[in-house]
Amino acid sequence: MADLNNVAIDEKIDWSKIEVKPELISRAKKLEGVNEQKLALKISNIDAFYGKIQALRRVSFGVPEGSIVSLLGANGAGKTTTLRVISGLVHAAAGKIEFFDEDITNLSPEKITRKGIIQVPEGRQVFPELTVEENLKIGSYSIKQSNAERSKSLDMIYTFFPKLKQRRAQVAATLSGGEQQMLAIGRGLMGKPRVLLLDEPSLGLAPIIVKEIFEIIKMLNRETGTTILLVEQNATKALKISHFGFVLETGRVTIGDKAEVLLNNEDIKKAYLGGGH
Ligand SMILES: Nc1ncnc2c1ncn2[C@@H]1O[C@H](COP(=O)(O)OP(=O)(O)OP(=O)(O)O)[C@@H](O)[C@H]1O
Ligand SMILES: [Mg+2]
Repeated sequence: MADLNNVAIDEKIDWSKIEVKPELISRAKKLEGVNEQKLALKISNIDAFYGKIQALRRVSFGVPEGSIVSLLGANGAGKTTTLRVISGLVHAAAGKIEFFDEDITNLSPEKITRKGIIQVPEGRQVFPELTVEENLKIGSYSIKQSNAERSKSLDMIYTFFPKLKQRRAQVAATLSGGEQQMLAIGRGLMGKPRVLLLDEPSLGLAPIIVKEIFEIIKMLNRETGTTILLVEQNATKALKISHFGFVLETGRVTIGDKAEVLLNNEDIKKAYLGGGH
């Protein structure tokens, strides 16, 4: 048995001895080659546990620089856990996480944030008593920035989210769900991410607001080049703005491909895209 702690996607491995679907790995390699892009994140064979319960099993996938990658799957599949392992909030019991070829596995969350990987957590989590602008400013304190840089970031965020500009002096508790989600994303952007991890930004929002938020995410990626790893249950909508998608099923990555291929795959349509709007 190979040493799973040191397995990387592109190393020569006898896959028959390892519990990872070889076709998934070869597809991940192909994606890397086709794009000739660097991988911003390379997740290789991650295991993670809550006590004795294993939440992730040999999770492997890549996030090319400048792309939007969707991580899809049902409730409890392990999507949030995957993001939390990347941000250092959950320990990786095995496997490796690389950020532009640098091994960042199990570094502290503070170190990972300072490198430019910023997670926008599930459920929005804004500071309800603080104003929109105060919430945004808090996001800028995760890294060293001058006041001039801070106000430049603030202007940039207000350009992407004009609704936040209108409400800059309003306390966050009185914002609508959609506006709170925009604020949570805006706060993440204030930390100048190279990779933004978004955990179910569409959760609990009306379809029209979901559409608006997804359009902003797409625009953000296009205009700023920020790499985005997007966790979603809303598979169709997520894939439509993504370059690549991976599906998690009970802690394992079972499918990975270009987003357009996944959107047109009959089996995937039946299993994951049913009822997609
Ligand atoms: N703090 C925890 N303690 C124990 N088990 C946990 C904890 N957090 C998650 N789990 C378990 O780990 C598994 C993966 O959970 P995770 O939150 O990563 O799923 P998810 O794909 O994000 O689901 P959802 O779509 O509902 O947010 C689930 O079985 C869940 O019950
Ligand atoms: Mg989750």
